[in-house]
Amino acid sequence: MKVLVLPGDGIGPEIVAQAVRVLEKLQADGLPLELQHAPLGGAAYDQYGSPYPDFTQKLAREADAILLGAVGGPQYDTLDRPLRPERGLLAIRKDLNLFGNLRPAILYPELAGASSLKPEVVSGLDIMIVRELTGDIYFGQPRGIRTNEAGEREGFNTMLYSESEIRRIAHVAFGIAMKRNKKLCSVDKANVLECTEFWKEIMIDVAKEYPEVELTHMYVDNAAMQLVRAPKQFDVIVTGNIFGDILSDEASMLTGSIGMLPSASLDQNNKGLYEPCHGSAPDIAGKNVANPLATILSVAMMLRYSFAQEDAAQRVENAVKKVLAQGFRTADIYEPGTQKVSTTGMGDAVLAAL
Ligand code: IPM
Ligand code: MG
Repeated sequence: MKVLVLPGDGIGPEIVAQAVRVLEKLQADGLPLELQHAPLGGAAYDQYGSPYPDFTQKLAREADAILLGAVGGPQYDTLDRPLRPERGLLAIRKDLNLFGNLRPAILYPELAGASSLKPEVVSGLDIMIVRELTGDIYFGQPRGIRTNEAGEREGFNTMLYSESEIRRIAHVAFGIAMKRNKKLCSVDKANVLECTEFWKEIMIDVAKEYPEVELTHMYVDNAAMQLVRAPKQFDVIVTGNIFGDILSDEASMLTGSIGMLPSASLDQNNKGLYEPCHGSAPDIAGKNVANPLATILSVAMMLRYSFAQEDAAQRVENAVKKVLAQGFRTADIYEPGTQKVSTTGMGDAVLAAL
C-alpha cells in the first residue's frame, strides 16, 4: 500500500501532518503502508520551478494512493498561468486520469448548530456529490485571452464533454447510488448549454443498465437553490466539473464547515487522490488553528476506496465522531460550551480516540 503524501501549500502541511499521524498509527497496528513525500503546487514551484514536477509525477504514478493537503497562495497569483499552483492540481488529476470525484456532505449531529441553516433543515443530512473531474470547461480547448477582430480583448473557454467521458462518470454515479438509496439526481443546464443537453441524453441512456435506480434531472440553478431550501431531498448527485466544483462548496456549508469535507478522486482502477475539499487558507497558515478533520476523513476514504479496508476506514471515521462527541472543536466549528483546540490538539484527540 504505497501512499504518496503531498502536503502542498498554506495550511496543507499542518493538516496533512495530523492525517499522517493517523496513517502511522494504522501502520503500527499492522497495515502494510509505505509513505513517501513530494511537493505539489506552490511548494513544488519553489523547489523545482514547476507546480507538478517530474519528481512528483514519477512518485505519483507509482503510488497506489495519494494524500494531498491543499495548493495555492497569494504569492503565486502573479506567476504565468501554467506555473500557478492550481495548474499543478489540475495536471495531476489529468495525468492520473482521476475522473471520478466523490464529495460526501455529511452532517455530524454535534455540528448541527455550526451550520448556517436551521437544524431541522440539515439534521441527518447525507449527500454524495459525484463530480466529473478531468473534463468540461476546465480542460476544453480552445481557451485563452486574445484580441478579437474588432480590436477588443476577450477571454474564452470551451465547455466540452465526449460521450465516453460522460458514460464512465455515469457508471461511477449509478454504482454508488446502487450502494445507497438508489436515487440519483443528474445536474445540468440542458435548457441553455448543448454540452449539458448531451450530458443528460447519455445519463438517460446509461440509466437503462440500472433499472433499480431512480434517475432525476435538475438544472444547476435550481439545484443550487434546492441545496439550501431542502437539501435532504438529495441522495447522490452527479454533475460535470464546474457545476460540481460550485455545488460541492455550497453543500459543505450545510455541514457546518468546509473544514469537515473529505474527497476522493478516483481512476478506473480505484487508484485515488484524497484531499479535503477546502483550499490552502493562506490567512490562517502556520497558526496551528486549521481543522485537520477533512484531511483525516480523506484518509478514511483512501482506506475504503483504494485499499478496500472498510474496517480501518470506519475506525478512523468513528474516531472523528468520538472527538466531536467529546466536544473538541477547532475554531471553524467552535460554539460556546465546546472545547476549542488547535490543529495539533485535534490530531492528539483523534489519535487518542483511535
Ligand atoms: C476544488 C478546487 C480546485 C478546483 C481549484 C483549487 C483548482 O476548487 O478542488 O474544488 O476548482 O477544482
Ligand atoms: Mg472547489
